Amino acid sequence: MIGKLTALLSQAFVSCGLDPRHSRVIISDRPDLGQFQCNGALAAAKALKKNPRAIAEAVIAALPDREIFSDISIAGAGFINLTITDEFLASHMREMTGDGRLGCLKSSQPKNVIVDFGGPNVAKPMHVGHLRSTIIGDCLQRLFRFMGDNVTSDIHLGDWGLQMGMLICELKRRQPELPYFDASHAGPYPGESPVTIDDLEEMYPVASARCKGDENEMEAARAATAELQQGRPGYRALWGHFVAVSVSALKSDFGRLGVSFDLWRGESYYNDRLAGMIEGLKAGGHAQVSEGAIVVPVSSPSDKKEIPPLILEKSEGGYLYGTTDLATIEERTGEFHADLVLYVVDKRQHLHFEQVFRAAKIVSFARNAELEHIAFGTMNGTDGKPFKTRAGGVMKLKDLIAMVTENALERMRENRIAEDFDESERQSIARQVGIATLKFADLGNHRTSDYVFDVANFSRFEGRTGPYLLYTAVRIKSILRRASDEGLVPGPILAPTVPAERELMLNLCWLPEKIRNATAERAPNYLCDFIYTLAQVFSRFYQQCHILREEDPAVQSSWLALLQLCLRELELVLSLLGMEIPERM
Ligand code: ARG
Repeated sequence: MIGKLTALLSQAFVSCGLDPRHSRVIISDRPDLGQFQCNGALAAAKALKKNPRAIAEAVIAALPDREIFSDISIAGAGFINLTITDEFLASHMREMTGDGRLGCLKSSQPKNVIVDFGGPNVAKPMHVGHLRSTIIGDCLQRLFRFMGDNVTSDIHLGDWGLQMGMLICELKRRQPELPYFDASHAGPYPGESPVTIDDLEEMYPVASARCKGDENEMEAARAATAELQQGRPGYRALWGHFVAVSVSALKSDFGRLGVSFDLWRGESYYNDRLAGMIEGLKAGGHAQVSEGAIVVPVSSPSDKKEIPPLILEKSEGGYLYGTTDLATIEERTGEFHADLVLYVVDKRQHLHFEQVFRAAKIVSFARNAELEHIAFGTMNGTDGKPFKTRAGGVMKLKDLIAMVTENALERMRENRIAEDFDESERQSIARQVGIATLKFADLGNHRTSDYVFDVANFSRFEGRTGPYLLYTAVRIKSILRRASDEGLVPGPILAPTVPAERELMLNLCWLPEKIRNATAERAPNYLCDFIYTLAQVFSRFYQQCHILREEDPAVQSSWLALLQLCLRELELVLSLLGMEIPERM
């Protein structure tokens, strides 16, 4: 709809000799004055130093297809307000109904997009930053795919850091007889892992506390990490087990969240090329030695704050987080021809990405790709501190999912939902409702804000929550099922006769713009706002229009078609948000 109206305005602008870029139509922020508005007369007038009202009048006079409008007016300094006829609105609804993409066009120039998200660290507990990255990143990969871009998602595992040396030392202390620790052992090493995921989860906090409390232990862990990175065979073999065990646990946790990645590359993947990369950068004059370290200076005279150089290699040897990130960019623009790389990472890593992106441009690894840090705030608990599950300490994704599922079951009992379903169906609904609770809470506010995850609040079946939205979609499904049992079928959508019906139709029109804006601004909360309003508008419509009791069969089948369209929009948006809808509740 917005596209159609903008095209008409654009013709009018051109025939008045004005720049058509100003012809964009938007959803009105004053519905009392009109359903849509175009503010472009002001900008056009400013450019020509003319009176904006006069420009607006000329544009209106030149507007083609006048018959689709029931009202056109000018407000204030030159805002054009537009209201369309009910017949045109209905014909647009019929068109959407016949379109598999509900009026959403694909991008005219699909891009190669890499979404770097999740980023958990092997053998280390996940924290809320990883959780948020996973939820937001997954939504973005779904949005870009829907828009027709060629998306590759990469988890960029932290599998190469100091935690590995700590674990190696910890296992050596416990089982020194294992062949991995015998430097003279020539291999091969056992194919089976000496540790399970439970062992790793138990070992890491112990090892980390030991190193923090004792400088010698820390030194030993650092040395083991360095040996691992240099390729000591026993350590490599052991590391391989740690990674495999962790990855299989992560795959099952992420699977439960409904999130998948195309690539499971880790920092280690790039290790072998770091030395060569640094040599090349030194030879090319981009990298230099500073206080013994090898760095790429990235500051610029226009900086308000000093931006320190990106350190590639420490004075005592050893690569850093940023070294790997730089190598990763070369790979992404080289191997994947990336046009856009999104890094969905906690906003506290802002400086890191600023340094890495600048360095990538300076050394020409970025090529033509845009590199963007998609920053987000913290998920806090009701105590105002970063969220922890009840057990305290570390947050396990498994425990968090169990907690929201348990809460969903409780709420379902309270609301007598799914009461007489069998146990396995009730459990599967609770899991879907629990995940929706978590994801909607996370995606519902602009990503850069911090928010408080109060499960009591977000698991309610009313208000701005995931469960409410799932419930609304399920309710529509059940109405449609009942209608079909009674032999009623959807028919052509007719012009609205009731205000609530018109309001529903207008809201259904917004879908393509909402999806486009959410993608363009990497802001899933736009989708949350949109479907929450849609659900409310649907409820008003359903209260006022008694579909199953309606006596005029043409009106009744038009209403059924409208419900079906509403359900399709809800289903599409919920799936873009990464939520599954139960068949019934
Ligand atoms: N593993 C990192 C962390 O826990 C996040 C990785 C983000 N991605 C990246 N390319 N740096 O902080």
